[in-house]
Amino acid sequence: MNILFHSPEKSAPWHQALQHHLPDANVFVSGEDKIDHTIIEYALVWRPPPGLLASLPNLKGIFNLGAGVDMLIQDATLPHHVPLVRLVDPVLTSGMVEYVVHWVLHFHRDMHIYATQQRARKWRGHNTVNADTQNRRIGILGLGELGQSCAHALLMLGFESITGWSRTAKHLPGVTCHAGQDGLQTFLNQTDILVCLLPLTHETRGLINADTLAALPQGAFIINAGRGPLVKDDDLIAALEKGHIQAAALDVFNTEPLPEHHAYWGMDTVFITPHIASLTTPMSASAVAAQALRDLENGQTPYNVVNVERGY
Ligand code: NDP
Ligand code: OXD
Repeated sequence: MNILFHSPEKSAPWHQALQHHLPDANVFVSGEDKIDHTIIEYALVWRPPPGLLASLPNLKGIFNLGAGVDMLIQDATLPHHVPLVRLVDPVLTSGMVEYVVHWVLHFHRDMHIYATQQRARKWRGHNTVNADTQNRRIGILGLGELGQSCAHALLMLGFESITGWSRTAKHLPGVTCHAGQDGLQTFLNQTDILVCLLPLTHETRGLINADTLAALPQGAFIINAGRGPLVKDDDLIAALEKGHIQAAALDVFNTEPLPEHHAYWGMDTVFITPHIASLTTPMSASAVAAQALRDLENGQTPYNVVNVERGY
């Protein structure tokens, strides 16, 4: 099996991990090895340059080394005649659960207020109205692999009011599920802490905007680890400045890296991380990719084939 690997990350750990899980495969690293494009059967990629995949005439499958395929789908030359498989990986999932639980607890327990107080050397405790897990309402946008795992972890922590929103209707134990545009308003009205784990598609772009922010209760929080363009930045900044949104934890941005002069950097109510909510690890992701390639070789459909038309 001949594989092309492309990622902006260092290739050595990937090469090693792929050889471990696919000992019979030949792995060629884009940009490093001299490659005869006609022999490549599978491409394992993260953010490949547009056109790279189209330059592989005998491709049988593409594996995206991340959960989100928005960048790949934006490539107008993306080959559509081969399956596109995305990463669903226990390590990626647990990383996201840790990130989401961290920020939910941070806001739930007023840590954003204590951080500000510490800078002012101020000793003052707050007994917030919603301070117990039974009363704090968490809303999760996106009830896929990541959203469902986060909901489960939050339920285990004792949060009793967990609501979720997805495109198609769901029934999940302990989670009040809403679906489609009709369910969005009710979902937002009942959400104190909004966790965004949606993929970026033509339907979700700009979903967090002045109208949806206004539908959240006064003093709500936002956690966005989905994709930056889900949020209209000017609308979020205005809502934060008015205090309608108390604080936001943002891991993903419209432009990455976040430009040095972006307003978010200077806002005490915004907590920035550089797209690290969850990280792809070579050993774990290579195991998942290897299974997908074996499935494809055996004529089976891997678990996580992307519906390119739907966009995720
Ligand atoms: P999934 O495809 O498993 O889940 C996506 C969820 O979003 C599904 O519940 C889906 O609904 C819902 N959805 C999609 N479109 C709509 C819509 N128009 N209206 C309502 N709901 C919608 O994805 P994952 O959970 O694996 O990942 C989610 C995203 O997280 C990724 O696409 C990526 O952008 C981001 N991510 C970010 C990382 C980071 O480090 N910041 C790391 C990993 C992922 P339905 O169930 O009905 O299909
Ligand atoms: C992903 C990401 O989609 O890292 O996996 O954002």
